Amino acid sequence: MKKIGIFYGSSTGTCEDLAHQIAGKLNVSEADIYSAEKLSAELVSKYEVLILGTSTWGDGEMQDDWYDGIKALKAADLSGKEVALFGCGDSESYADTFCDGMGAIYDAVKDKGCSIIGNHVDAGSYNYSSSTAVVDGYFVGLALDEINESEKTASRIEEWTGELKQCL
Ligand SMILES: Cc1cc2nc3c(=O)[nH]c(=O)nc-3n(C[C@H](O)[C@H](O)[C@H](O)COP(=O)(O)O)c2cc1C
Repeated sequence: MKKIGIFYGSSTGTCEDLAHQIAGKLNVSEADIYSAEKLSAELVSKYEVLILGTSTWGDGEMQDDWYDGIKALKAADLSGKEVALFGCGDSESYADTFCDGMGAIYDAVKDKGCSIIGNHVDAGSYNYSSSTAVVDGYFVGLALDEINESEKTASRIEEWTGELKQCL
């Protein structure tokens, strides 16, 4: 198994909890799970695989801890790395910006020489109107909605981590 680091941005603990659930499925130890504000080029260099998660706030913004995190990510060398994304949001109250924060992270990493993995999550199985995290009918990473569809979270994580394992 490749060395995996998980970085999350979470205001009320939802995305943090999801990061730990994903870590559990991939046997990632607690020491390799970080808040996004801890992200640095040096830390990135320790890992072959980065799993990056955010909740979405405001009107489709990344969670606050990503504002510094994204600067560090842009400054880091991602060439040759594998990057997987996950996000959580509220597809009912924020249907027009569902998981847009994940879309913002995708935009920051997509041209940095890394391979994006776990990016074929069928958007047809979600109820939302619009998302910058959807490209050609697929979410660019795992979209989760703990507010309206929490009963689907476990199986969505199971399926997505199963796909990731094929690349790891
Ligand atoms: C003021 C406010 C704005 C939000 N904006 C969005 C949004 O634009 N898109 C979305 O998908 N979810 C939005 N959400 C929902 C949060 O992303 C959701 O509650 C998430 O689970 C919070 O995760 P966290 O505790 O890890 O930060 C918003 C929630 C609040 C309270």
